[in-house]
Amino acid sequence: MLPIVELEQGQPRGVVAAGVGMVLVRNETQTYALGERCPHLGAPMVDGWLYRGDLVCPWHGSCFELDSGAATRGPASAPLPCHDVRERDGQIEVRRRPGVRSEP
Ligand code: FES
Repeated sequence: MLPIVELEQGQPRGVVAAGVGMVLVRNETQTYALGERCPHLGAPMVDGWLYRGDLVCPWHGSCFELDSGAATRGPASAPLPCHDVRERDGQIEVRRRPGVRSEP
């Protein structure tokens, strides 16, 4: 899907996989795939940043855990969708987690 070398440490990157938009974030040795729109009012999470290991929404500052998408700081109360990620042969591959639906 995307070569690992194209993903900058701590810099969110927007991608589309199987028609689903998402944001990839590499934090130290792990790569995470999260929903592309904030569940609060739809901010583009690709414009967010990392703070203490969470992804911060660029509009109102909600924070989301990278591995679960759970909101750790509001105003958002709903989680960001999360997808499973694996790295194989230098590529990042993403799979939709069971029960995660596409964003509106
Ligand atoms: S749009 Fe993300 S916190 Fe409001």
